[in-house]
Amino acid sequence: MKKNSQNYLYNFFGLRNKKVIISGSSGQLGKSLVKTFLNCGSIVIGLDIKKSNKYKDKNLHYYNLDTSNYHQNSLIFEKIYKKFKVIDCLINNAGVAVFNPFTKRTEEELDFVTNINLKSYFYCIKNFYKRSNKTKPKSIINVSSIYSLISPDPRIYGKNDRKSSEIYGATKAGVNQLTRYFAIHLSDKNIRVNSISPGGIYNPLNPQNKTFIKKYSNRNPMNRMANTSEIVGAAVYLASDASSYTNGHNLVIDGGMSAW
Ligand SMILES: NC(=O)c1ccc[n+]([C@@H]2O[C@H](COP(=O)([O-])OP(=O)(O)OC[C@H]3O[C@@H](n4cnc5c(N)ncnc54)[C@H](O)[C@@H]3O)[C@@H](O)[C@H]2O)c1
Repeated sequence: MKKNSQNYLYNFFGLRNKKVIISGSSGQLGKSLVKTFLNCGSIVIGLDIKKSNKYKDKNLHYYNLDTSNYHQNSLIFEKIYKKFKVIDCLINNAGVAVFNPFTKRTEEELDFVTNINLKSYFYCIKNFYKRSNKTKPKSIINVSSIYSLISPDPRIYGKNDRKSSEIYGATKAGVNQLTRYFAIHLSDKNIRVNSISPGGIYNPLNPQNKTFIKKYSNRNPMNRMANTSEIVGAAVYLASDASSYTNGHNLVIDGGMSAW
């Protein structure tokens, strides 16, 4: 790419030196988000419950945090703000699921998924908002799922396959509403809040079983699952100045699966 057009793109998206917090930074989508924002010239602050972070970069700062722990969450945000002063973007991405049938659902499983998928997003948003001033525009991106909008088609999941659960979809629907709520209620500090709803993402390191991939692909207008590289562009857009008038939106990236 010519230097001029490279500079144009850098300026257009305006992500150079922006400080971006990404939760779940050691997971499949998290790692891809981290690498993408580093490539855009951002300073990335990764959060994950995993003790250590294998990926190293001088602009990547890693904090070990269970985002669903209310007190730990506040302490780590305090530490982060002490070091970085201003944070431009928060990406709530850490998420979990349970895969067994709802008839076997336990209270512990319901709490586990709700605590991480919903409460931890709220804690991070609260701690981000509290320490933000309104001088610079800021962005929050919540990673949701197409199963916040549609029910998983049971024909895709065989008897013994990992099923996408009712509580997973319910918490992700909650994420969409948190997005709409905070898009309105954080605007006093110039913070935009949007969500991304990916469809099923293929995992090359730990591939889904072949029958599942086939059935999922048959159900999808694009005839395949997504790759993380097809999701991260939406996060770049929503974090950047290019989306400065996009607020309260849920960007669905599912190859058209929820369109029919
Ligand atoms: N993979 C998909 O097909 C898919 C589809 C739609 C939406 N999503 C959403 O994308 C997001 C990322 O999913 P993924 O596929 O990368 O999953 P993943 O399991 O690969 O990564 C999730 C990361 O979150 C971390 N994490 C879990 N609990 C945590 C906690 N309490 N505190 C801090 N970190 C915690 C994990 O250690 C892991 O590194 C999730 O919100 C998920 O619901 C994924």
